[in-house]
Amino acid sequence: MSATIISGVEIAKAIREELKGEVAELKEKHGIVPGLVTILVGSDPGSVSYVTAKGKTAHALGLYSEQIDLPAETDEEELLGLIDKYNKDDKIHGILVQLPLPKHINEGRVLYAIDPNKDVDGFHPVNVGKMVLGEQCFLPCTPHGILEMLTRSGIETSGKEVVILGRSNIVGKPMANLMLQKRPAGNATITLCHTRTKDTDFHTKRADILIAAVGVPNLVKADQVKDGVVIIDVGVNRIGMSKSGKAILAGDVEFDSVKEKASFITPVPGGVGPMTITMLMKNTVQSAKQVAGLL
Ligand code: GUN
Repeated sequence: MSATIISGVEIAKAIREELKGEVAELKEKHGIVPGLVTILVGSDPGSVSYVTAKGKTAHALGLYSEQIDLPAETDEEELLGLIDKYNKDDKIHGILVQLPLPKHINEGRVLYAIDPNKDVDGFHPVNVGKMVLGEQCFLPCTPHGILEMLTRSGIETSGKEVVILGRSNIVGKPMANLMLQKRPAGNATITLCHTRTKDTDFHTKRADILIAAVGVPNLVKADQVKDGVVIIDVGVNRIGMSKSGKAILAGDVEFDSVKEKASFITPVPGGVGPMTITMLMKNTVQSAKQVAGLL
């Protein structure tokens, strides 16, 4: 058996078409243009390419967008001042500070400073708390995108064994929380594995759905999964450079061998990545609708 490839590119395209319509309607009926600002500190190549892609997508959907690129030496006070400015700017409905930040900046302080009503990343403790309680909030973009991929691919999650590799605040922890809730793409039984897990293979081998978010290229091999598993590969690992200077990417899962055992699998690139960016746009549109009193 060879797996059905879940195309994040195609699913993201469908969602972007829906969003384009919503953005046009917001503009025509309410005179509102959803606005997003991305703030990048430093020049990590992965972060630069993400932020650039976010700006391009925002533009393509008809959003207002600003992109702020700051040098790596920027001090925390300056960054906090900028966030304060955008918190008060009515043109801006979403503020995204690209992570990771340079070591001299306290990430927690920065994320706490963002107005929770403009926290389209869903990283502010107010939004994290609401998410855990199952209340209306901004869902973090990568887990949100994965929920959409599962739903739109018709993959049943209710009662399934979902094994997640990686306990990051951005993916692993929120993913576990969302999939155990009574919600679409939820109602699953969750196991979250991390660096101190005793026998990770024991868990991966019994997974109906395996979500890998550890940042280790090709970590998961075919002999670590069962036949028919659904694979969601969140890894975006730069393993080299092509002759034309483009990064060569690998996921956390060894795609070629694992796809022969899986029922569904997401590729890297073209899987989770495009979904993350699209959900950021969805959250920004949601924020503008909230301001307009439409939600
Ligand atoms: N770095 C890696 N993923 C993300 C994300 O979803 N949002 C932000 N702000 N930074 C990230």
